[in-house]
Amino acid sequence: MRSISIFGATGSIGENTFDLIVRAGGADTFRTVALTGGRNVARLAEMARVLRAEIAVCADETCLPALRDALAGTGTLVAAGDAAIAEAADRPATWVMSAIVGAAGLVPGLRALRHGSTLALANKESLVTAGPLLMATAAQHGARILPVDSEHSAIFQGLVGEDIASVERIILTASGGALRDWPLEALAAATVTEALAHPNWAMGQRITIDSASMFNKALEVIETREYFGVRPDQIEVIIHPESLIHSMVGFRDGAIMAHMGAADMRHPIGYALNWPDRAHIPVARLDLAQISTLTFRAPDLARYPALRLCREVMATRGLAGAAFNAAKEVALNHFLGGGIGFMDMAGVVEDTLAGLSSDMRLHSDVLSLDDIIGADHLARIRAGEAACALAARRP
Ligand SMILES: NC(=O)c1ccc[n+]([C@@H]2O[C@H](COP(=O)([O-])OP(=O)(O)OC[C@H]3O[C@@H](n4cnc5c(N)ncnc54)[C@H](OP(=O)(O)O)[C@@H]3O)[C@@H](O)[C@H]2O)c1
Repeated sequence: MRSISIFGATGSIGENTFDLIVRAGGADTFRTVALTGGRNVARLAEMARVLRAEIAVCADETCLPALRDALAGTGTLVAAGDAAIAEAADRPATWVMSAIVGAAGLVPGLRALRHGSTLALANKESLVTAGPLLMATAAQHGARILPVDSEHSAIFQGLVGEDIASVERIILTASGGALRDWPLEALAAATVTEALAHPNWAMGQRITIDSASMFNKALEVIETREYFGVRPDQIEVIIHPESLIHSMVGFRDGAIMAHMGAADMRHPIGYALNWPDRAHIPVARLDLAQISTLTFRAPDLARYPALRLCREVMATRGLAGAAFNAAKEVALNHFLGGGIGFMDMAGVVEDTLAGLSSDMRLHSDVLSLDDIIGADHLARIRAGEAACALAARRP
């Protein structure tokens, strides 16, 4: 029986993974080692019951009594806290879904790789903050990382049987997010609710806002560089409002391989679950005659400063990715809390990167987990200061 764990089971990716696991036979087909969540212990306990999980862990320690009550008498062990989540990753499972949101997903993913697990990686922040460490850990322990981001799954599929040396460019598609058709001058006043109205994808709150600001695409550009090892100048971004082409690979003979499918995360999750095989996945089938038209347009960097900032991060490398991601997470928290405006998020990240640039260059060759956590911590402090300064200047 194949053993699995899902980190971030109660989130959007986690729910889609759970759906596919249940459809594929649930506890009769898979041995579920660990399920983790943040605060939603009712849903976590329900999933643990259905899959007869060996252990269920919530990040928030105050939720432990509720989790214990909900799973009393089931035989499922319970635990809480970041350390318990990391320890859950030490329980070997052959297939591990990394779907915690944010930098918190890094340590459990690294621990799973050390046990030689196949890591289905939705948590793009891991590659952005610690790409070289993650890839080296996988190589050292004979583990495999399979991309779950729809763009990177599309590229991965486009490269099957191909030599990476024959790749000329990688073209990441972007929906443009909820505010893509707003006038540029109106963006500063966009509210959280407006930024959450994604035209095509149903996702978690944080990634949906990151989609509107294209910080999500900026993370994906860095993720592409780290995962596929291509040069930054080989990575392009194009707005494709229909979100039916999930990304493209351009080869040196001029051919472009485009991956198409419904905008449903169960496709890339299912591909990673069944790889190297393909299994039936219950996503909508495209009716091309009805779709009839696919459109593309170049992104405007004034509207999406994150796309400019990610180029600076890739030029600096080292700890810049960790600082970029941490500053972005802090800026997003301040936007969600109403302290800063939508366009201020990029300002917070830019200020943070500028303030830390000498430190990041100093440490550019050192990539231990401690260094990465240190850079993350420092960037959070700087970004918090930058956000508070911006908030104080708001009318
Ligand atoms: N959603 C998508 O379609 C999509 C597509 C591509 C990539 N991704 C990536 O996949 C990851 C998950 O995205 P999502 O949209 O599924 O996020 P989400 O819906 O917000 O779910 C996040 C999950 O992480 C848990 N969590 C939150 N904070 C945590 C912490 N500090 N420690 C441990 N667990 C924590 C949440 O628990 P509770 O809910 O119980 O609090 C939940 O289980 C992100 O890295 C995202 O960029 C998502």
